[in-house]
Amino acid sequence: MPDTSPSRTAAIVPAAGRGERLGPGAPKALRTLAGLPILVHAVRALASARSIDLVVIAAPEDGVDETRSVLAGIDTEAEIVIVAGGDTRQGSVARALLALPSDVDVVLVHDAARPLVPPDVIDRVASAVRAGHEAVIPTLGVVDTIKEVDADGIVERTLDRSRLHAVQTPQGFTRAVLQSAHALSDASDATDDAGLVERMGVAVHVVPGDEEAFKITRPLDLVLAEAILVRRRAAGGVV
Ligand code: CTP
Ligand code: MG
Repeated sequence: MPDTSPSRTAAIVPAAGRGERLGPGAPKALRTLAGLPILVHAVRALASARSIDLVVIAAPEDGVDETRSVLAGIDTEAEIVIVAGGDTRQGSVARALLALPSDVDVVLVHDAARPLVPPDVIDRVASAVRAGHEAVIPTLGVVDTIKEVDADGIVERTLDRSRLHAVQTPQGFTRAVLQSAHALSDASDATDDAGLVERMGVAVHVVPGDEEAFKITRPLDLVLAEAILVRRRAAGGVV
């Protein structure tokens, strides 16, 4: 008998943020990095990963048409779907979840603002979900010492750095777990999807992230991203 169980892996890309910390201008995902919108870099990275069959983008509400036209030129076999995003990151992810076809059983959520994520990280996360982990996040060690400080500016305590992880995306989930997490009543205040899954008591598995999967947040991050692309170009890679 043919296998008719759902088995495709989708990437959801929340891309509807304004990019306020980057300064005035177009929505962050549509700003240019080495001549192409940040979103185009991110979608190319996802579409080039072996594990990804389909990419669903939550576009800025007033930028759906522009998003459609900038993504039209991407050369990929992966299916690309565009929906309008919401007022919060989680609202954007929730809207993209509604657009998932029924044959998708594994979902990765990846910030458009992390355009230079290496395909290896994407495949590592997807493989760990396929291997049986219901929720998987890529992380890096923390380089700074981190302290908790009270409202008066007095240090309360120093955290044990050896136990701290900085969390990146893509974060991977079984579709069932991600949908349940987003159905939680207080979902809108979480800064990442794994945070919602933790609230359900589901174990979140950690795999190694990559420095190049950093998030473009402030103007200096664009300088770093441009430099990485210059280096990739010099090494003969596609930018
Ligand atoms: N995001 C989204 N919908 C929102 C807010 C954020 O899809 N309403 C997306 C952003 O486009 C980004 C990711 O969530 O890809 C991570 O958010 P962040 O880095 O905070 O981006 P912005 O919200 O755009 O930036 P800022 O907070 O500086 O305005
Ligand atoms: Mg934000």
